[in-house]
Amino acid sequence: MIRALRPTAGPIAAAVLLAGTALGAPMAFAAPSATVTVQADHPGPVIAKEIYGQFAEHLGTQIYGGIWVGPDSPIPNIRGYRKDVVEALKNLHVPVVRWPGGCFADEYHWRDGIGPKDRRPVIVNTNWGGVEENNAFGTHEFMDFSELIGAGTYVNGNLGSGSVREMADWVAYMTADNHGTLVQERRANGRDKPWTLNWFAVGNEVWGCGGNMRADYYADLLRQTRTFLKPGAGQPTKFIAVGPSDDDTAWTETIMARAAKEIDALSMHYYDVASFNMVPKGTWKVKGSATEFGEAEWFASVFGAYQIGTFISHHSAIMDKYDPEKRVALVVDEWGTWHDPTPGSNPGFLQQQNTLRDAVVAAISLNIFHAHADRVRMANIAQMVNVLQAMILTDGPRMVLTPTYHVFDMYKGFQGAASLPLAVTGPDYSQGGRAVPAVSASAGRGTDGVTRLALTNVDPNKAAPVQVRLAGLKAGKVTGRILTAPAMNSDNTFDHPQTVVPVAFGDAKLSGDTVSVTLPAKSVVVLELQ
Ligand code: AHR
Repeated sequence: MIRALRPTAGPIAAAVLLAGTALGAPMAFAAPSATVTVQADHPGPVIAKEIYGQFAEHLGTQIYGGIWVGPDSPIPNIRGYRKDVVEALKNLHVPVVRWPGGCFADEYHWRDGIGPKDRRPVIVNTNWGGVEENNAFGTHEFMDFSELIGAGTYVNGNLGSGSVREMADWVAYMTADNHGTLVQERRANGRDKPWTLNWFAVGNEVWGCGGNMRADYYADLLRQTRTFLKPGAGQPTKFIAVGPSDDDTAWTETIMARAAKEIDALSMHYYDVASFNMVPKGTWKVKGSATEFGEAEWFASVFGAYQIGTFISHHSAIMDKYDPEKRVALVVDEWGTWHDPTPGSNPGFLQQQNTLRDAVVAAISLNIFHAHADRVRMANIAQMVNVLQAMILTDGPRMVLTPTYHVFDMYKGFQGAASLPLAVTGPDYSQGGRAVPAVSASAGRGTDGVTRLALTNVDPNKAAPVQVRLAGLKAGKVTGRILTAPAMNSDNTFDHPQTVVPVAFGDAKLSGDTVSVTLPAKSVVVLELQ
């Protein structure tokens, strides 16, 4: 579980500074409309497609029921993976999936999940609801699933309760192509060639559920363990160290100082918990309802979304000290909203409904990741199916796509795009004496040559007129899509799955190098300029 979260840091100034203001331009607090200036002729770093990564932990009904139903299920499936979910994920172009946890990872022993299914041991998932885990979904199933949806692979090793040998053997089992016993065993289990292992993490949240370690102790363990992790020839595997939660810069400092040379990436976890951003600050026990909320909670979630930018800046500054070439990536491998569980559900399953508020949080967060594309080179939203801020919800044979799914769909053209620096000036959205920028934005030039502009109006009450100046771009036409809904808490349910879906947006006007647009209240818009 998350370690104690810190109180909100430097609220307004920090949030305002990061609202897509990559150029750091001064804010015009009283301006009636927002101005976005895009340096279209000065492309910045590439937005790694892995920023659109997903996280699939053995938690609740995510793996069993949400992804895996088994080949004998009446639910239509491909070799046991539910067909509807596979199709929906393929449409998102999911670049990478992180598995098997989370807290589950540090109690997961990979040998439990290989070989004939009827001989795999049944364990108890002590972190998540105390339910039985029969290990039907193991390494082969994860790798096969990733290949099926066309995603890269990110496996999280067990440092907390496993051994160095166990972890080293797992890496070899997945990636080696030799005559060793481990490879023969993999072949006997049905896989001849090694899989591609893109990322491997040495533990998860070792400062909490992964072993309650101190940073110095972990740094030593990391160095020792990493020495023995040897992927097969030609593998692209990048190694990730457990990084900070939230704004824990002391953790970042220690790991970078002691072990930067041993790693390719440092992880960071950040959850947007509405109650933590309220005044007075709430508790972990009552995070706030996913669906029954008012404007104070809306503001708190939006405020929390902006806050991740402040924290990323803090960690990046420390990483710059030890790694000025930016070789080591910051990977935000757990992020998203965390609300109270759906009433009546098993609280250990972390099931929550997803509303327009979650979509707006996703859009702000993605804009911030784009602005930090030089250092943030992977992010994995928590989580993919049926858990926390999910893309997809399932109930038996039924499936519904959440508002967050639609944001990922609208933004997928940003995968691999060149980021375009931009500055936003304009009005604030204020609530209870605090303020955040009303408009969050980012821009990129896609691998298809299309320039994309993402604009979100976080204000749930007022439309936001925006003038976008695209310095150095001659576009002939503008098209777009918008995601909005009648209410802040509008959602998609199994009975009404189309309440919050993107539709064509024809209200952007192009004149010379300027696009004029009025963003409706509480809306996410993505424009394409060609
Ligand atoms: O995403 C749910 C849990 O949150 C993960 O298992 C853990 O890493 C974090 O505390």
